[in-house]
Amino acid sequence: MAKSKWTEFTQNAVGTEQLKSAGNEFKSGWKAPSNIAIVKYWGKKDGQIPQNPSLSFSLNGCYTQTQLEVKYSPKGFSLTINPEGKEFAPRIEQFLRNVEPLFPFLANVEAKVTTVNSFPHSVGIASSASGFASLALCLCHIEEQIKGNLGFGSPFLRKASYVARLGSGSASRSVFGGWQEWGYLPELPNSTNEYALSLSPIVDPKFSEMRDAILVVSSSPKVLSSTQGHALMANHPFADARYAEARINLNAILKALRKGDLKRFFDIAESEALTLHGLIMSSKNQPMLLKPQSLQIIELIKAFRTEKDINIGFTIDAGPNIHLLYTSDVAPIVEAFVNEQLKPLCENQKVIFDSCGKGPELV
Ligand code: PMV
Repeated sequence: MAKSKWTEFTQNAVGTEQLKSAGNEFKSGWKAPSNIAIVKYWGKKDGQIPQNPSLSFSLNGCYTQTQLEVKYSPKGFSLTINPEGKEFAPRIEQFLRNVEPLFPFLANVEAKVTTVNSFPHSVGIASSASGFASLALCLCHIEEQIKGNLGFGSPFLRKASYVARLGSGSASRSVFGGWQEWGYLPELPNSTNEYALSLSPIVDPKFSEMRDAILVVSSSPKVLSSTQGHALMANHPFADARYAEARINLNAILKALRKGDLKRFFDIAESEALTLHGLIMSSKNQPMLLKPQSLQIIELIKAFRTEKDINIGFTIDAGPNIHLLYTSDVAPIVEAFVNEQLKPLCENQKVIFDSCGKGPELV
């Protein structure tokens, strides 16, 4: 694990002796949401440090529920994972070994992880963000229990976001509900590459009710993992221009979020989504992630927006599925449009209607 200069997170680490004297066995369970990025994180440096700051909102219905149990064991670290979590087992094990300097008590425990996603795993919604956020919250909560602390204030969430980031960059943002920013931006006070910030206090209320209709064009497994994707940026001819543009877009979108400017917000969201795909297409020997139906859906959204003269827009992750974004005041007409015109273009007519959520919950 990259050494952190953030002594806030490394000092007073809890070791085996404290675990034993506090009671040998502890458990914690958290639900954490998936999030959808509007300004995209694409490209990273060592230690899971982003090349550019990013911005997202947490979903409501798409989440991971994780329970972590730890029990003192003189035999060292061991791990069991429930059958549903088995596919993530290698990443979870690697992560728990990596974060041992932050949680030294892990060196001598039998750890049991039970993790379940609320959404089918192959609908193109990244489960690593919600998965690592929920696991990080469990770890930080167990540490607090050993220390005898109660309550989950800002320092707790900052640390959980920092720890989640070490599992998956976007997971740092899933520790918060509403809107979040992750990554250093000179114009945004307190922003840092180490953990995410909640933007909820500065966001106009209409954005807190943002809806997301996830149009599942294909549920086939990801062709390009985010690890491979970030690596593509290392030698990308447009990398520097992209990182500069992301900072410009982030500043502009922060203004739009503050002012409640939906038109500006959707302009930037769509440009970010298409830039992400443009970067992938202009990388050497990369697959085309968008499908013909993805493009048809985009065209239909644009036509509907013009015809009805309403503020709606889309974003896209590193896959073929389209996220149609709209606010609650236009939900009835937009959802009728989705059901009539967009659903037939989706695989097995699959659409997930989700919305901006309140964030993690202790379970
Ligand atoms: O957190 P990672 O390493 O899975 O990367 C996420 C990359 C994108 O989903 C494409 C963008 C983002 O900011 O979430």
